[in-house]
Amino acid sequence: MNRFTSLKVFSAVILLVSLSGCGGSANFVSNSASMISDQESSLFRLLLILAGVVFIIVEGGIIYAVWRYRRRRNDTGEPRQVYGNVPLEVVWTVIPVILVLILFIVMLNTMNAVAAPPAGPADVTVTVVGHRWWWEFDYPDLGITTANEMVIPANANVKLTLKSVDVIHSFWVPQLAGKTDVVPGQINTMWLTAKRAGDFNGQCAEFCGIEHALMRFKVVAVDKTAFDQWVTNQKKPAPAAQTDLEMQGQNLVIKGACVGCHTIGGASAQGGKVGPNLTHLYSRSTFAGGAYPLNDTNLTNWLKDTQSLKPGNLMTMHVPDKDIQAVLAYLKTLK
Ligand code: CUA
Repeated sequence: MNRFTSLKVFSAVILLVSLSGCGGSANFVSNSASMISDQESSLFRLLLILAGVVFIIVEGGIIYAVWRYRRRRNDTGEPRQVYGNVPLEVVWTVIPVILVLILFIVMLNTMNAVAAPPAGPADVTVTVVGHRWWWEFDYPDLGITTANEMVIPANANVKLTLKSVDVIHSFWVPQLAGKTDVVPGQINTMWLTAKRAGDFNGQCAEFCGIEHALMRFKVVAVDKTAFDQWVTNQKKPAPAAQTDLEMQGQNLVIKGACVGCHTIGGASAQGGKVGPNLTHLYSRSTFAGGAYPLNDTNLTNWLKDTQSLKPGNLMTMHVPDKDIQAVLAYLKTLK
């Protein structure tokens, strides 16, 4: 590798590192939306300030010493040789020990605060299932299964149970909570509470294969009334197709390959959970693992060739051009 290539690689790495984990508003330091993220944010700020002070003192000391004791014009021979200085050695050992102790205690407090679920039973329980490369959200008490958008009531105690059907993923919504690994063959739990209504972006935070970066999701926190409305709607079976085009699409979907992977509740399409549940697809705002906004253009392109939008994803079928309009018309009825 010549020097220019190394430089390019180095810049690319710096760019990637600085971009990773800071997707705009998902910044938990300045835009926290939960007690957990508040705690994490305070710890981060304290660390940043302490590290900043240490940096300025140490670097300042180095710069001062280099300047103050630089070689003068009339200097000859070696400078005076100094070995050890007990007061200095004591000072620069004791200060870091005190700092580390302070940080240790503050960190233990933060860990305790974020680990303990709030008192009382959970208001909502969600089972989070990691798939390559999308998220399944089951609400076992409500009989709801959805994908990529986890709807929760704001100011409610939400308990999550995390599982994976394939490889290790990591569930991360920076504004609401820290990361929890999603491990095959193991059940992990976590909890979160959104302090206010809003959309909070999440991202898989454990490298899980080619589409790891497009394994996104959203937590949509809404007020209690809106949540109850959402629940009522999600519990309904898929509405029946009305127009000829929709019927044609429904036939194609139910009798075609789609139901090999997708479930559409009430439409005799019980494809299990290989792919996202489509019963209320159009109640969501994104698809393909949160990778794209859900609209006609994106969904048409997806149906034609999923691999061009999300290379390596496990949906390898193409809907033939002649069937696209009908399939799209039917999918749009799934609200
Ligand atoms: Cu799933 Cu990265």
